[in-house]
Amino acid sequence: MPVRQTRLPPYGKPLVFCASLLPAIWLCWLAWQDQLGTNPVETLSHRTGDWSLRFLLLVLAITPLRRLSGWNGLQKLRRMLGLFAFFYVCLHFGVYLVFDQFFDLSAILQDIAKRPYITIGFLGFLLLIPLAITSTNGMIKRLGRNWQRLHRLVYLIGVLGVLHYWWLVKADIREPALYAVLLAALLGYRWWWHAHSPATIRSTR
Ligand code: HEM
Repeated sequence: MPVRQTRLPPYGKPLVFCASLLPAIWLCWLAWQDQLGTNPVETLSHRTGDWSLRFLLLVLAITPLRRLSGWNGLQKLRRMLGLFAFFYVCLHFGVYLVFDQFFDLSAILQDIAKRPYITIGFLGFLLLIPLAITSTNGMIKRLGRNWQRLHRLVYLIGVLGVLHYWWLVKADIREPALYAVLLAALLGYRWWWHAHSPATIRSTR
Protein backbone atom coordinates (compact mmCIF):
# COMPACT_ATOMS: atom_id res chain seq x y z
CA MET A 1 0.00 0.00 0.00
CA PRO A 2 1.46 3.47 -0.85
CA VAL A 3 2.44 5.62 2.14
CA ARG A 4 0.15 8.63 2.46
CA GLN A 5 2.06 11.92 2.25
CA THR A 6 0.86 14.18 5.06
CA ARG A 7 3.65 16.75 5.06
CA LEU A 8 3.70 19.90 3.01
CA PRO A 9 6.15 19.71 0.08
CA PRO A 10 9.10 22.15 0.42
CA TYR A 11 7.69 24.43 -2.26
CA GLY A 12 4.23 24.47 -0.59
CA LYS A 13 4.70 27.52 1.61
CA PRO A 14 6.50 29.74 -0.94
CA LEU A 15 3.88 28.81 -3.53
CA VAL A 16 0.99 29.76 -1.25
CA PHE A 17 2.83 32.94 -0.24
CA CYS A 18 3.19 34.04 -3.89
CA ALA A 19 -0.40 33.07 -4.71
CA SER A 20 -1.65 35.08 -1.70
CA LEU A 21 0.15 38.17 -2.96
CA LEU A 22 -1.42 37.94 -6.41
CA PRO A 23 -4.67 39.82 -5.60
CA ALA A 24 -2.67 42.78 -4.24
CA ILE A 25 -0.31 42.74 -7.23
CA TRP A 26 -3.29 42.52 -9.59
CA LEU A 27 -4.91 45.56 -7.92
CA CYS A 28 -1.63 47.52 -8.21
CA TRP A 29 -1.42 46.56 -11.86
CA LEU A 30 -5.02 47.69 -12.52
CA ALA A 31 -4.31 50.98 -10.72
CA TRP A 32 -1.11 51.46 -12.74
CA GLN A 33 -3.02 50.80 -15.96
CA ASP A 34 -5.86 53.09 -14.87
CA GLN A 35 -8.25 50.14 -15.12
CA LEU A 36 -10.02 50.40 -11.77
CA GLY A 37 -13.28 51.51 -13.33
CA THR A 38 -15.30 54.67 -12.96
CA ASN A 39 -14.97 54.67 -9.17
CA PRO A 40 -11.43 53.48 -8.35
CA VAL A 41 -11.78 54.01 -4.58
CA GLU A 42 -14.92 51.89 -4.46
CA THR A 43 -13.24 49.17 -6.53
CA LEU A 44 -10.21 49.14 -4.22
CA SER A 45 -12.42 49.11 -1.14
CA HIS A 46 -14.55 46.25 -2.46
CA ARG A 47 -11.72 44.09 -3.76
CA THR A 48 -9.58 44.45 -0.60
CA GLY A 49 -12.71 43.77 1.53
CA ASP A 50 -13.45 40.64 -0.50
CA TRP A 51 -9.93 39.30 -0.05
CA SER A 52 -9.92 40.07 3.67
CA LEU A 53 -12.98 37.91 4.11
CA ARG A 54 -11.72 35.17 1.79
CA PHE A 55 -8.47 34.86 3.72
CA LEU A 56 -10.33 34.78 7.03
CA LEU A 57 -12.47 31.92 5.74
CA LEU A 58 -9.37 30.15 4.37
CA VAL A 59 -7.77 30.31 7.81
CA LEU A 60 -10.91 28.83 9.34
CA ALA A 61 -10.96 26.10 6.68
CA ILE A 62 -7.46 24.79 7.43
CA THR A 63 -8.28 22.74 10.53
CA PRO A 64 -11.42 21.07 9.08
CA LEU A 65 -9.53 20.28 5.85
CA ARG A 66 -6.62 18.87 7.82
CA ARG A 67 -8.87 16.66 9.92
CA LEU A 68 -10.93 15.44 6.98
CA SER A 69 -7.98 14.81 4.65
CA GLY A 70 -5.34 13.73 7.19
CA TRP A 71 -2.98 16.17 5.46
CA ASN A 72 -1.33 17.55 8.60
CA GLY A 73 1.10 19.74 6.67
CA LEU A 74 -1.78 22.12 5.94
CA GLN A 75 -1.43 23.37 9.51
CA LYS A 76 1.85 25.03 8.50
CA LEU A 77 -0.10 27.41 6.25
CA ARG A 78 -2.44 28.70 8.93
CA ARG A 79 -0.27 31.44 10.39
CA MET A 80 0.71 32.75 6.95
CA LEU A 81 -2.88 32.84 5.73
CA GLY A 82 -3.93 34.60 8.94
CA LEU A 83 -1.26 37.24 8.38
CA PHE A 84 -2.47 37.65 4.81
CA ALA A 85 -6.01 38.21 6.14
CA PHE A 86 -4.55 40.95 8.33
CA PHE A 87 -2.56 42.34 5.40
CA TYR A 88 -5.69 42.66 3.23
CA VAL A 89 -7.72 44.18 6.10
CA CYS A 90 -4.92 46.75 6.56
CA LEU A 91 -5.08 47.59 2.85
CA HIS A 92 -8.89 47.76 3.09
CA PHE A 93 -8.75 50.08 6.09
CA GLY A 94 -5.93 52.03 4.41
CA VAL A 95 -8.11 52.70 1.35
CA TYR A 96 -10.88 53.92 3.65
CA LEU A 97 -8.52 56.06 5.75
CA VAL A 98 -6.63 57.65 2.87
CA PHE A 99 -8.97 57.85 -0.14
CA ASP A 100 -12.40 57.79 1.49
CA GLN A 101 -11.86 59.90 4.62
CA PHE A 102 -8.63 61.74 3.72
CA PHE A 103 -7.15 61.09 7.21
CA ASP A 104 -10.01 63.03 8.82
CA LEU A 105 -10.01 61.29 12.21
CA SER A 106 -13.09 63.04 13.57
CA ALA A 107 -15.07 62.09 10.43
CA ILE A 108 -13.87 58.49 10.86
CA LEU A 109 -14.97 58.39 14.50
CA GLN A 110 -18.36 59.78 13.54
CA ASP A 111 -18.66 57.22 10.76
CA ILE A 112 -17.78 54.39 13.16
CA ALA A 113 -20.41 55.63 15.61
CA LYS A 114 -23.13 56.24 13.02
CA ARG A 115 -22.91 53.43 10.49
CA PRO A 116 -23.32 49.97 12.06
CA TYR A 117 -21.49 48.17 9.24
CA ILE A 118 -18.46 50.41 9.77
CA THR A 119 -18.66 49.84 13.56
CA ILE A 120 -18.63 46.08 13.03
CA GLY A 121 -15.87 46.14 10.42
CA PHE A 122 -13.74 48.36 12.64
CA LEU A 123 -14.25 46.04 15.60
CA GLY A 124 -13.12 43.10 13.43
CA PHE A 125 -10.04 45.07 12.40
CA LEU A 126 -9.18 45.97 16.03
CA LEU A 127 -9.57 42.36 17.13
CA LEU A 128 -7.24 41.16 14.40
CA ILE A 129 -4.40 43.37 15.65
CA PRO A 130 -3.57 41.33 18.82
CA LEU A 131 -3.76 38.13 16.77
CA ALA A 132 -1.23 39.48 14.26
CA ILE A 133 1.06 40.79 17.03
CA THR A 134 1.05 37.46 18.87
CA SER A 135 1.64 35.31 15.80
CA THR A 136 5.38 34.92 16.37
CA ASN A 137 6.97 31.73 17.77
CA GLY A 138 8.19 33.70 20.80
CA MET A 139 4.67 34.90 21.61
CA ILE A 140 3.21 31.41 21.14
CA LYS A 141 5.71 30.10 23.73
CA ARG A 142 5.25 33.00 26.10
CA LEU A 143 1.45 32.91 26.12
CA GLY A 144 1.11 29.10 26.37
CA ARG A 145 -2.53 28.02 26.59
CA ASN A 146 -3.65 31.64 26.61
CA TRP A 147 -2.40 31.91 23.03
CA GLN A 148 -5.01 29.39 21.90
CA ARG A 149 -7.70 31.16 23.90
CA LEU A 150 -6.78 34.51 22.38
CA HIS A 151 -6.67 33.13 18.84
CA ARG A 152 -10.19 31.75 19.17
CA LEU A 153 -11.15 35.38 18.50
CA VAL A 154 -10.75 34.51 14.83
CA TYR A 155 -14.21 32.85 14.92
CA LEU A 156 -15.77 36.07 16.18
CA ILE A 157 -13.81 38.09 13.60
CA GLY A 158 -15.17 35.83 10.84
CA VAL A 159 -18.72 36.46 12.08
CA LEU A 160 -18.09 40.23 12.26
CA GLY A 161 -16.64 40.19 8.72
CA VAL A 162 -19.74 38.46 7.32
CA LEU A 163 -22.11 40.73 9.27
CA HIS A 164 -20.19 43.79 8.05
CA TYR A 165 -20.64 42.66 4.45
CA TRP A 166 -24.29 41.62 4.92
CA TRP A 167 -25.11 44.96 6.50
CA LEU A 168 -23.58 47.09 3.76
CA VAL A 169 -25.23 45.46 0.75
CA LYS A 170 -28.40 47.18 -0.24
CA ALA A 171 -30.26 44.72 -2.45
CA ASP A 172 -28.51 41.61 -3.72
CA ILE A 173 -27.52 39.59 -0.65
CA ARG A 174 -26.38 36.50 -2.59
CA GLU A 175 -22.66 37.04 -2.07
CA PRO A 176 -22.73 37.82 1.66
CA ALA A 177 -25.21 34.93 2.04
CA LEU A 178 -22.71 32.60 0.38
CA TYR A 179 -19.98 33.72 2.79
CA ALA A 180 -22.42 33.27 5.69
CA VAL A 181 -23.19 29.69 4.60
CA LEU A 182 -19.47 28.87 4.26
CA LEU A 183 -18.72 30.37 7.67
CA ALA A 184 -21.65 28.50 9.27
CA ALA A 185 -20.40 25.23 7.74
CA LEU A 186 -16.84 25.81 9.02
CA LEU A 187 -17.93 26.80 12.52
CA GLY A 188 -20.61 24.07 12.56
CA TYR A 189 -17.99 21.45 11.69
CA ARG A 190 -15.79 22.58 14.59
CA TRP A 191 -18.71 22.48 17.00
CA TRP A 192 -19.70 19.00 15.77
CA TRP A 193 -16.12 17.73 16.06
CA HIS A 194 -15.75 19.00 19.60
CA ALA A 195 -19.10 17.57 20.59
CA HIS A 196 -18.48 14.12 19.07
CA SER A 197 -14.79 13.26 19.24
CA PRO A 198 -13.41 11.61 22.41
CA ALA A 199 -11.35 13.90 24.69
CA THR A 200 -8.16 11.85 24.02
CA ILE A 201 -8.33 12.60 20.27
CA ARG A 202 -9.29 16.25 20.87
CA SER A 203 -6.16 16.84 22.95
CA THR A 204 -3.88 15.52 20.19
CA ARG A 205 -5.52 17.20 17.20
C1 HEM B 1 -12.40 42.06 9.57
C2 HEM B 1 -12.47 43.25 8.98
C3 HEM B 1 -13.17 43.51 7.67
C4 HEM B 1 -13.61 42.66 6.70
C5 HEM B 1 -13.49 41.14 6.67
C6 HEM B 1 -14.23 43.47 5.68
C7 HEM B 1 -14.81 42.97 4.52
C8 HEM B 1 -15.51 43.72 3.60
C9 HEM B 1 -16.21 43.21 2.46
C10 HEM B 1 -16.30 41.73 2.09
C11 HEM B 1 -16.75 44.25 1.79
C12 HEM B 1 -17.63 44.20 0.55
C13 HEM B 1 -16.84 44.04 -0.70
C14 HEM B 1 -17.76 43.97 -1.92
O1 HEM B 1 -18.77 44.68 -1.99
O2 HEM B 1 -17.42 43.20 -2.85
C15 HEM B 1 -16.38 45.46 2.49
C16 HEM B 1 -16.72 46.74 2.10
C17 HEM B 1 -16.42 47.86 2.79
N1 HEM B 1 -15.76 47.92 4.01
FE1 HEM B 1 -14.96 46.37 5.01
N2 HEM B 1 -14.15 44.79 6.04
C18 HEM B 1 -13.52 44.86 7.25
C19 HEM B 1 -13.19 45.98 7.95
C20 HEM B 1 -13.50 47.26 7.54
C21 HEM B 1 -13.08 48.48 8.21
C22 HEM B 1 -12.20 48.52 9.45
C23 HEM B 1 -13.59 49.52 7.52
C24 HEM B 1 -13.47 50.99 7.79
C25 HEM B 1 -13.44 51.50 8.97
C26 HEM B 1 -14.33 48.99 6.40
C27 HEM B 1 -15.00 49.73 5.45
C28 HEM B 1 -15.63 49.25 4.34
C29 HEM B 1 -16.24 50.07 3.32
C30 HEM B 1 -16.33 51.60 3.32
C31 HEM B 1 -16.73 49.20 2.34
C32 HEM B 1 -17.43 49.58 1.04
C33 HEM B 1 -18.87 49.90 1.27
C34 HEM B 1 -19.56 50.29 -0.02
O3 HEM B 1 -19.28 51.36 -0.54
O4 HEM B 1 -20.34 49.49 -0.56
N3 HEM B 1 -14.25 47.61 6.44
N4 HEM B 1 -15.63 45.11 3.60
